[in-house]
Amino acid sequence: MSASLFEPVHLGALALSNRIVMAPMTRSRAGAGDAPTAMNVDYYRQRASAGLIISEGVQPSANGKGYCRTPGLYSAEQVAGWRAVTDAVHAEGGRIVAQIMHCGRISSHHNKEPGTETVAPSAIRAAGQIYSDAAGMVDFDLPRALRTDEIPGVVEEYRHATRCALEAGFDGVELHCTSGYLPAQFLSTGTNQREDAYGGSLQNRLRFPLELLAVMGEVAGFDRVGMRICPGNPFNDLHDADPAGTFAALLDAARPLGLAYLHVIRFPAGGVDVVALAQQHFGGALVVNDNNNAQSGGEPVSTGVAEAVSFGRGFIGNPDLVRRMREGLPLAPFDVKTLYSAGPQGYTDYPCAS
Ligand SMILES: Cc1cc2nc3c(=O)[nH]c(=O)nc-3n(C[C@H](O)[C@H](O)[C@H](O)COP(=O)(O)O)c2cc1C
Repeated sequence: MSASLFEPVHLGALALSNRIVMAPMTRSRAGAGDAPTAMNVDYYRQRASAGLIISEGVQPSANGKGYCRTPGLYSAEQVAGWRAVTDAVHAEGGRIVAQIMHCGRISSHHNKEPGTETVAPSAIRAAGQIYSDAAGMVDFDLPRALRTDEIPGVVEEYRHATRCALEAGFDGVELHCTSGYLPAQFLSTGTNQREDAYGGSLQNRLRFPLELLAVMGEVAGFDRVGMRICPGNPFNDLHDADPAGTFAALLDAARPLGLAYLHVIRFPAGGVDVVALAQQHFGGALVVNDNNNAQSGGEPVSTGVAEAVSFGRGFIGNPDLVRRMREGLPLAPFDVKTLYSAGPQGYTDYPCAS
């Protein structure tokens, strides 16, 4: 059945007024205590005509922070900041879920509070560098391998963050399970060289992300939990010996949970057709991210492949992207230099079409 991007849809318990989803985008503009500010409220309010906003990645704990100035979702101050964001989005008729993102080894201590640690499945430093306000470009930290008896505590961080998300008024939560961050580090052979129940065999490597989904679903209900994947994505020095096999098994295991949606990033260079994989092994609602330009981006919905399509960069310069797409208005570019800078410039000062 073909549908248009502008028709409503349900993703589990999430009722969207259209099928244009704002993809999660880190913008590095949280305030003191890694809490959202009034400026963040403005940014999300301006973009609330999306059928669903997926928030920028939010760390479930201070250890989970990787980049500078990213918001958290574990303290009372952060919950209060996010409450103002979700209230503003809801007042505009929008929906918003929190993307929970623990960076694991993709981090520098320069970006974190004193007393925090950079942890990962194995003590293997990622190749490459990361920006910090304090010292510019720096090597990624050498992570400390989590002890087996510490892993339940990290899972509990996701449970707590999900509770905080509900308290803050989010409509749901999304597990960030790609792009080289902690769940992907556990899934992948290159980053997981553990010899306990969380490493080695495929079943063991699936254990951590599945435990995360379980606690997120226990708190929010699985019909308010989504998961984002991109098999074969080498971003952040990630390597897996068999991404198709790993993600097929992950989806087989997630399928009976009844998640609200699976959010897939198409990445043909990774060697896996993620839409075909999802159709075969997941079967539920799909949100596709296609590196789409907003002109042709409706294809996964019009062909019946997906329930919704997510757009990232299109929303940066076009807070009213939905209207521009509906009316065929020109799209404004965005300024790369201000993607992660502090302050409103290049963040809340992009105008709507007149
Ligand atoms: C500035 C920026 C920040 C991003 N941050 C995140 C993030 O926090 N979590 C995530 O899953 N993806 C993140 N992404 C990836 C986007 O969600 C999206 O997949 C990507 O931009 C491709 O979609 P597009 O072509 O519509 O922009 C980010 C992308 C950009 C441009």
